[in-house]
Amino acid sequence: MIVDVGALEEFALGQPRPLQVAERNLVGVRVGDEVFVLENRCSHEDFPLAEGVVDLDTEEIECARHGAMFSLRDGAPMSFPATKPVARFNAVVRDGRVEVEI
Ligand code: FES
Repeated sequence: MIVDVGALEEFALGQPRPLQVAERNLVGVRVGDEVFVLENRCSHEDFPLAEGVVDLDTEEIECARHGAMFSLRDGAPMSFPATKPVARFNAVVRDGRVEVEI
């Protein structure tokens, strides 16, 4: 299923944006003219990644709870205490709109 989650311009660079898509809690982060979408839940403990801070240079998001870093591109854990990835969803920008495949 492809879901329109808004205009690209509604995503501020590096600002995590919570998204409710098909009853799933996701987080979208704009990096340049791309938007990366992950599950809005840290894999360490159940905590919303949307409250974290994004490093645009490394394309990672830091969990605000204990500081684990995750790759925005694939959801891989980049630092402890997280050891498992978070789910990642394909997103494309088409005609200025962001579409997520779920
Ligand atoms: S809950 Fe995210 S690092 Fe612990």
